[in-house]
Amino acid sequence: MLADVREGLSARPRQIPSKYFYDERGSHLFDEITRLPEYYPTRSERALLEISAATIIGNTRPATLVELGAGNSDKTRLLLDEMLRSKARDITYIPVDVSAAFLESSAAQLRAEYPSLRTMAVAADFSAGFTLPPHPAPALHAFLGSTIGNFTPDAAVDLLKGVRARMDSADFFLLGVDLRKDPAVIERAYNDSRGITAAFNRNMLNVINDSLGADFDMLAFEHNAVYNTTEHRIEMRLISSVDQQVHIPEIGLIDFAAGDAILTELSYKYDSGQVAGMLAESGLVLRDWLTDDAGMFALSLALR
Ligand code: AVJ
Repeated sequence: MLADVREGLSARPRQIPSKYFYDERGSHLFDEITRLPEYYPTRSERALLEISAATIIGNTRPATLVELGAGNSDKTRLLLDEMLRSKARDITYIPVDVSAAFLESSAAQLRAEYPSLRTMAVAADFSAGFTLPPHPAPALHAFLGSTIGNFTPDAAVDLLKGVRARMDSADFFLLGVDLRKDPAVIERAYNDSRGITAAFNRNMLNVINDSLGADFDMLAFEHNAVYNTTEHRIEMRLISSVDQQVHIPEIGLIDFAAGDAILTELSYKYDSGQVAGMLAESGLVLRDWLTDDAGMFALSLALR
């Protein structure tokens, strides 16, 4: 984190990786975002999973569910329920997430809810590559919530290559992506009226204060989220509202002029052609493309 912050703040434009939103408070704020009226992605994906979970599980017959960026495993229950319904043998669930504390409390909750499920939580930064514990085959590898959208197309392909490398020949990959649509609808989802997204964005400064002993004044940075129609992505920034200096003990004093921005998140929006292209570049083949009637969100099923 120290290296990322040092490099990111000396780069122009200044940028800090999105994974630093997610301490326990950040994970809870994101959870709140998913329930906001303006934030359509979670609701659209859940509705899509509700109507297609049986088909997905029926077509892939997994003994193991591996989930990247599992969070609180909320939508995952739709897949797990279907797996437990359709399988006589034991089901294994491997949630993978960066936030170890959040992951452990969700895993404990799941163990209580699903006594017959074998849950093996893996605390890992999935963008850095990791190894899966031994598990029964075949596995369904799920990457939901359009989390892939936080990665530039090149980084996304690297990540997908990592998924492919962990896949067995009979495994499947389920990817959730947010779709291109009216920019006003997208921008509203990242500028909610209750200011939860603003608090989530600013929490990154809190995380840096806690982890590196920095003295960012969260109230001296404004939340900003705009849709870039050329790149098809939301760009989320924290903009310094005043001239200020921030002290980070291992780095030193950092100057911000009023209006200076830190890029905190990119959230790409896709169409089927782009997803098929990224999968192909990663050595994966798109098998099914499922969307909701309103065309808000898509699930794609791929194999090696
Ligand atoms: C968790 C990456 C899917 O990009 O929509 C929500 C994160 N940022 N509101 C997204 C987020 C601001 C979210 N992902």
